[in-house]
Amino acid sequence: MLNVRDYLPSDLTSAVRLLEAVQDREDTPRLDPSRFIAEMTNGGFAVVAVVQEEGVGEEVVGLVTAHAAGAEAWIYGIAIATPWRHQGIGSALLDRLEQRLLHGGVRRISALLAPGQVGETALTNRGFVATDGLVLHEKTEPLAPRSLEVVEQWGGMLLPEGLWEQAAGMEREKQVIESRVVDPLASPELAERIGLRPPSAVLLFGPPGTGKTTFAQAVASTLRWPFVELLPSKLAAAEGTLASELRRAFVELAELEHVVLFIDEFDELVPAREGRPASAGVVNELLKSIPEFRSRPGRLLVCATNFVDTIDPAVLRPGRFDLLIGIGPPDKAARAALWGRHLEQMDVAEDADPSTLADVSAGFTAGDIDLAAQRAAVAAFQRARGGQDSTRIEVPDLTSSVAATKPSISAWMRERFATQLEEYSRV
Ligand SMILES: Nc1ncnc2c1ncn2[C@@H]1O[C@H](COP(=O)(O)OP(=O)(O)OP(=O)(O)O)[C@@H](O)[C@H]1O
Ligand SMILES: [Mg+2]
Repeated sequence: MLNVRDYLPSDLTSAVRLLEAVQDREDTPRLDPSRFIAEMTNGGFAVVAVVQEEGVGEEVVGLVTAHAAGAEAWIYGIAIATPWRHQGIGSALLDRLEQRLLHGGVRRISALLAPGQVGETALTNRGFVATDGLVLHEKTEPLAPRSLEVVEQWGGMLLPEGLWEQAAGMEREKQVIESRVVDPLASPELAERIGLRPPSAVLLFGPPGTGKTTFAQAVASTLRWPFVELLPSKLAAAEGTLASELRRAFVELAELEHVVLFIDEFDELVPAREGRPASAGVVNELLKSIPEFRSRPGRLLVCATNFVDTIDPAVLRPGRFDLLIGIGPPDKAARAALWGRHLEQMDVAEDADPSTLADVSAGFTAGDIDLAAQRAAVAAFQRARGGQDSTRIEVPDLTSSVAATKPSISAWMRERFATQLEEYSRV
């Protein structure tokens, strides 16, 4: 089992062993073990990939180490044990290193590497650009330290890359979000030249657990924009009124060059005013704040709701929300993709078939499928603990755990969603 984590003092011997093992390789940047020891015993910083070796403990099979000064950092060593090359370890190490440096206020990271050396592919994959075809790789991080402060004050963060790829199935929804939201925001110059206005505000609606939060985060991850979630309950508990806290959030977050601002359970914030006169102040506040938020490009408001039909219609008008996108229950293909994802990660009998499982799990959300898969794993785990021979997950484990799991989406909810899709969808 491979684990990528911060370097610990107890890794020193194993890390030095790795550096010695790779130091004569032409394709590995020279990192003198004695320099590494000096840096590390002086509070230096590194990220390591370790594997658990039976009876031996953890062994370092990859490491990357950097020196930070103010807003600049230099990567001065990357090493990966020969048998562990070309498995994405370099990218995983850099991902964690970047996150750490960024939170320490670093804005630009550079690395000196010869072409073809270990780590070059990983750097390129992580968006580093080689200068002058020479040996310097550089990357300017997407967030200035001051912006990071604002983001963190509101409980936000820069999400890891790759969340979009992790969302399985849901091809219809993914296609809409990609073509209407992500692509235009990622290529604003091209969009402007053609006259396409990238969206500023999007509402995601649909039954619980269908992936609204997941998609909002995936958009932020792909754009490399910070993700800030405003929780109505937390805003209401703050000093001012809900309306004034909301105003403060919009004003402060408007300082950011880029942000995905996410508001979940949007219906609670803006129920139709006649029904809930107490919320009129909040609705009026949003009617002012949303146009202001929209007035500059590079920012995206994503709101999510399970009850689109209870939202004050004034808030949803074009000009406030560009797109209203329904996120439906996973269809059969999406369920098969979700099952496939789980089966890949489990020790499971060869005859377990994602498509058959998709057939018997109608109404299941991604969360339900996860729960059912885990229940099947529990059955196999119990057998293994009991000393039985058959320790992998068998098809009957899966079918009985599916039968024991209640689908989150009832037929009634599916029908209601279909009606809402017709009435509200705007893409
Ligand atoms: N397409 C997907 N692929 C893989 N996992 C998914 C996908 N969609 C959702 N999930 C997983 O399902 C769970 C529920 O998803 P999520 O929280 O995004 O749903 P939601 O629509 O925001 O729900 P709610 O309406 O309750 O807020 C999460 O654990 C998420 O990781
Ligand atoms: Mg959610």
